[in-house]
Amino acid sequence: MNTITFYGHSCFSLTHNNIILLFDPYFTGNPVNPAKASEIRCNYILVSHGHSDHLGDTIAIAKHSSATVITTSEIAALVGQQDCVNISMHLGGKRSFDFGYVRVTPAFHGAGIPGGHAAGFIVNFFGKNIYFAGDTALFGDMALLGRLEKIDYALLPIGDNYTMGPEDAVEAVKMLNPAAVIPMHYNTWPLIAQSPEAFKKKVEALHIPVHIMNPGQSITL
Ligand code: NI
Ligand code: MN
Repeated sequence: MNTITFYGHSCFSLTHNNIILLFDPYFTGNPVNPAKASEIRCNYILVSHGHSDHLGDTIAIAKHSSATVITTSEIAALVGQQDCVNISMHLGGKRSFDFGYVRVTPAFHGAGIPGGHAAGFIVNFFGKNIYFAGDTALFGDMALLGRLEKIDYALLPIGDNYTMGPEDAVEAVKMLNPAAVIPMHYNTWPLIAQSPEAFKKKVEALHIPVHIMNPGQSITL
């Protein structure tokens, strides 16, 4: 059984038996995250870019979990300098792991680190394809991603201001054609306040279900 847990903002974990993969581990300072970084154990941490609400507690969790950080080369070098085990990938790259594979996707956003580039990930996790878009604007090549991979769950930012907002995220859904959608990167702070229910209504008019997750909640994939 595969489960996904939402920790608020863009922080999620995927779990299959005792294999746990974490996306963008923003615990410390995250006003909506009910968990503490010190309580989290995982095997892998995927980091989309270097902004503090995404890189977050990567180094601390990687150290106390002996987890492997999977990320772009520039962030891999950064965590490597802090003695974290890391796997360096970059946009367009695909690599196999014991859980499945990771494809690094482009994201139109700041890297948060000199010389870097923001990324997203399509993760094949024990047979399910999860597209974690990261922080990004809407871009037309999402249609290509939808053609290259059969996406089971698309995790899309809807907060606006720093990333695409709900209207653009609906367009993203049309291009990606996923089996289901989970919104992220909203309601963390007043600046990115959104109604996930309004987004859900628009996406479900396309006959694609939307799972609105509360921080701390888990669902079976
Ligand atoms: Ni960012
Ligand atoms: Mn962000």
